[in-house]
Amino acid sequence: MSKKDINLNELKVGMYIELPDSWFSHDFLSNNFKMSSVEQLKKVKTMKLKQITVDCEKSDIKHQPEKVSPLIEELPQSKVADPKFEKAPKQWSSEKLLTDDLRNVLDDQKLPPEDKSVAVYKHSVNMMEQLLEFPTAENIQASKEAIYHISDAVMADNDTAKNMLLITSHDFYTYTHSVNVGITSIMLSKEIFKNSDAHDLQELAAGYFLHDLGKINIDPEVLNKPARLNDMEMQHIKTHPYQGYKLLKAADALSPECSTIVMQHHEANNGSGYPRRLKEKEIHIYGRICAIADVFDALTAERSYKKAMKPFDALRLMKEKMIDNFDQKLFTQFVKIYF
Ligand SMILES: [Fe+2]
Ligand SMILES: [Fe+2]
Repeated sequence: MSKKDINLNELKVGMYIELPDSWFSHDFLSNNFKMSSVEQLKKVKTMKLKQITVDCEKSDIKHQPEKVSPLIEELPQSKVADPKFEKAPKQWSSEKLLTDDLRNVLDDQKLPPEDKSVAVYKHSVNMMEQLLEFPTAENIQASKEAIYHISDAVMADNDTAKNMLLITSHDFYTYTHSVNVGITSIMLSKEIFKNSDAHDLQELAAGYFLHDLGKINIDPEVLNKPARLNDMEMQHIKTHPYQGYKLLKAADALSPECSTIVMQHHEANNGSGYPRRLKEKEIHIYGRICAIADVFDALTAERSYKKAMKPFDALRLMKEKMIDNFDQKLFTQFVKIYF
């Protein structure tokens, strides 16, 4: 067979390609031609094709499949290289993120917990939405400051925190997921570490809120694909912990707590997780906490291809079908914060 479909990142100058012409337009003179310049190559790569047909016989060079690498530099559609990112507002301050409104809400002793929790939740989602849209180093740092304050409020006021658990939103965007996992993990940490002052709860909160920051460098088509992922797509998704680590490091915002949570939130108790297939106590308790909150929110989130599960059903599924993935003692405490 002289023709084969290859991935766009494997395309090279000298290859003879066949462009599909039925469902998109392009401004090449022909659908079939040998690529003779880097400019042509770049132009083809902007066409957002998943794969492209190469005629090996007519090509000057052979196609050699590339290995999937977890290195951030080799991944497609990095937000850092996105022109929109270049144009992002240069700098925020925690002042901007922590608006007067929110300050007043947090300080208002008389405000009913229900109202307070709705205001804090909405603000948190808004902040994560902005951060994931414009994740500059300054914005990451400013967001961390704001998360410290939100976390103080959640720690100090049990009623507000409990109400926030009830309103966690069930749509599928990474920013609501970040807030949901953030709040749920803070609540579980509060319960577990209540008799200890050996933990920096503000940094923990920052780690929980930012656990999926690396997803900004994952191809949105893969991230939101409503079908089973192939091996390559799965490998791509699995790089997001390391990408989050790198983003936080580059922003000078990588505390040990953030590093642990970002890198370990997909490790599983039975060693089936990623990226390092750690087991049981090899996984730090911060990672084990976040892993439970993460799966719980994924199950209770609504997606384009699935309905949200009710919290009770999600907890039952986790207990009956997935318990080997979790630290069982932590899971028992997690259930208690819901009932
Ligand atoms: Fe994740
Ligand atoms: Fe997550």
